Amino acid sequence: MATPATMAGTLTVAGRTVPRMGFGAMQLRAARPEAALAVLRRSLELGVRVIDTAWYYGDDVVNRYIAEALQPYPADLVLATKAGARVTHKGHSPKPDYSPEQLRAGIDRDRSVLGLESIPLTHLRWSGGDVVDGVSFDDAFGTMLAMREEGRIGHVGLSNVTLDQLRRAHARGPVASVSNVFSYGSQGDTPTLEFCTEHRIPYLPFGPLGYGATDTPPARPGQTVAQAQLAWLLARSPVTVVIAGTSNVEHLEENIEAGAFTAQDSR
Ligand SMILES: NC(=O)c1ccc[n+]([C@@H]2O[C@H](COP(=O)([O-])OP(=O)(O)OC[C@H]3O[C@@H](n4cnc5c(N)ncnc54)[C@H](OP(=O)(O)O)[C@@H]3O)[C@@H](O)[C@H]2O)c1
Repeated sequence: MATPATMAGTLTVAGRTVPRMGFGAMQLRAARPEAALAVLRRSLELGVRVIDTAWYYGDDVVNRYIAEALQPYPADLVLATKAGARVTHKGHSPKPDYSPEQLRAGIDRDRSVLGLESIPLTHLRWSGGDVVDGVSFDDAFGTMLAMREEGRIGHVGLSNVTLDQLRRAHARGPVASVSNVFSYGSQGDTPTLEFCTEHRIPYLPFGPLGYGATDTPPARPGQTVAQAQLAWLLARSPVTVVIAGTSNVEHLEENIEAGAFTAQDSR
């Protein structure tokens, strides 16, 4: 029998108590539709309640899969989207854009495709220095807080930010979560993770399987390399929420099973 996501323990994310084992949907952009829908449905069956997505994962493709596979959404599901990009030419990668118009347009696009009045959690996905095309990080965060006031989103998260940016945002308004790159083989973001741990801010490491890095934690008997990496992340801090991405059900089940090893792991 497959391991439920709750084995990883729970945490409050965007006001909901959810398993610390979530799912990252980015890989579904290139999956066959049947495979994508099957992975999403299985994730919910196994108790996953945090699903990371973005409208620019295949130009709404992944969000459409989520809407088709998971509606009516469970009340405790945290769909976590991203804002801060615009399409320049069809078929090309989106470019960072933090103007109020584009942040609002991206969030409204999520609301429309996902069929939600209010997105539970949206990460301001930063890319660049403190000012990008004339828009400062602080102003963009202010726009996100306004989107929350307007009810377009329930909670504001930050992604790909520096510790300094996080500190400034945290001093100003609630930061519901942080999603930065972090894995056993890529621990450069440790100071940010420590800040999140201290302030009980959920931390969703992206690239949790290390993007092919050969530097992996030792696997316990019966544990796969992927499970060792994910169990290590769960043990690394009580605020981590794993959002490993996969486009097949077997890998999904294997990854969720990593939660069963958490109690045995340590830093
Ligand atoms: N905030 C941001 O800027 C940002 C950036 C990047 C990603 N993300 C989010 O973070 C999530 C996770 O990151 P990621 O998808 O880039 O990387 P990842 O989860 O570290 O790795 C995904 C890769 O690992 C493979 N994989 C998954 N489970 C496996 C297993 N048990 N055994 C062997 N291979 C396995 C997948 O292939 P298969 O499909 O074949 O399993 C895929 O190629 C994304 O899905 C996305 O939602 C956020």
